[in-house]
Amino acid sequence: MPVTLVIGAQWGDEGKGRIVDFLSRGAHVVARYGGGSNAGHTVRVGDKTYKLRIVPSGVVAGVDHCVIGPGTVVAPGQLVAELDTLEFNGVDTSRVWVSDLAHLILPYHVELDKSAERERGEDALGTTGNGIGPAYVDRVARTGIRAGELLDMHRARQALFARTHAVRAQGIAIDLDAVAAELEQQAARIVPHIRDTVSLIHDELQAGHRVIAEGAQGSLLDVNFGTYPYVTSSVTVAGGALSGLGFGPKHVDYVIGVVKAYQTRVGGGPFPTELADKQGDELRERGAEFGVVTGRPRRCGWLDLVALRYAVQINGITHLAITKVDVLDTLYQICVCTAYEDVGKGSLPFAIARGAKPVYDSMPGWLKTTVAARSWEDLPFNAREYLKFIEAYVGVPIAYVSVGPERNQIIVRQDAPIGSTARVR
Ligand code: GDP
Ligand code: IMO
Ligand code: MG
Repeated sequence: MPVTLVIGAQWGDEGKGRIVDFLSRGAHVVARYGGGSNAGHTVRVGDKTYKLRIVPSGVVAGVDHCVIGPGTVVAPGQLVAELDTLEFNGVDTSRVWVSDLAHLILPYHVELDKSAERERGEDALGTTGNGIGPAYVDRVARTGIRAGELLDMHRARQALFARTHAVRAQGIAIDLDAVAAELEQQAARIVPHIRDTVSLIHDELQAGHRVIAEGAQGSLLDVNFGTYPYVTSSVTVAGGALSGLGFGPKHVDYVIGVVKAYQTRVGGGPFPTELADKQGDELRERGAEFGVVTGRPRRCGWLDLVALRYAVQINGITHLAITKVDVLDTLYQICVCTAYEDVGKGSLPFAIARGAKPVYDSMPGWLKTTVAARSWEDLPFNAREYLKFIEAYVGVPIAYVSVGPERNQIIVRQDAPIGSTARVR
């Protein structure tokens, strides 16, 4: 049985964790295919809030296997802290698996990330400061150290030693003994979780079990297709799930694009529909738009359908999950961007970089609370009209409508791919 991809369709923080948690009830495996602890995925169950950074969100629902795949970059100290916090909160982490092929983020990557940002000055990218970029640079430069090396600390130490000269030449002070000693301690905790995740996933697929590939970041942060250079360093789009976990396209049946009912962005870079005014503040306040990882206020604006249509294309999105519809409940008028003015030739990232000016359609708000809606019919007429407008524009159906952060605050449309066929645990 097949794979469902869950992809961020904007600039991240669309509510992927929340959607993956909901879909986990119909799956055996949830696997992260890219990124690292730059991600912050929130799952709310009752009065408990879980903030996942690298561990797949399916861990909260208790899927059989949670995989941190070959395409990710893993900070050992961060992973240990996350596993400990989850266990402390009563979540079983015994079946969280780290691919031996995943690359490690080491302390010097964090230092390199911060120093590169300092050097960029006013043009800083606004990274999360987690060493993501430098760790991926090491991977493609073939100077990285993989999680599998931790199985033999003697080898890991040698690999670290080999990196020392190059890193020092870049002006980063590195105390090899201290780094190695810390890594040894972390390895003792992580090694039981390291395994060959490629065969694990293929065994599960062979057994007819559903695998959810959990995206991190968003399509507009993709290193190829995003608003470069204001992007992350990984492949966040659907193709990244295949290369980041190790299966072919024949296994994928659904690609679910997660999209907020409006638009946000954290960090630097262009944002055509940004509202740098009271309206933007209202969205930030009602949507609690503050970064999970850095606590930074998220920039807020109107939904950008031009960018969403692009995300549908580059990912092959088959269904949308739209979140945070309730955040718009108090607005008299809602705008959506349906075109860019005078963009000239070129692809969308270039149009955005050139300062694309949004053209808006506006529609009346619904001025009613949606937080208790559990069916399409429960939604106010104008809310349904808004959602239908989005579907018509991008040409794919909305399968899930989220009206609050709680696990049950979701509407599952009749033809939604999974959800109705929940596994009983
Ligand atoms: P992710 O990185 O894509 O998993 O998203 P984040 O967890 O960074 O950000 C989404 C935020 O919105 C979290 O605080 C969620 O609890 C919250 N959230 C998710 N869905 C909804 C929704 O439908 N309504 C409201 N009000 N909050 C939501
Ligand atoms: P989730 O998975 C939102 C942004 C950073 C910065 C840029 C590069 O929670 O949606 P990096 O540290 O990756 O080198 O930073 O990417 N960024 C995110 N923004 N959500 C995320 O993850 C992000 N991960 C990275 O703010 O602009
Ligand atoms: Mg997030």
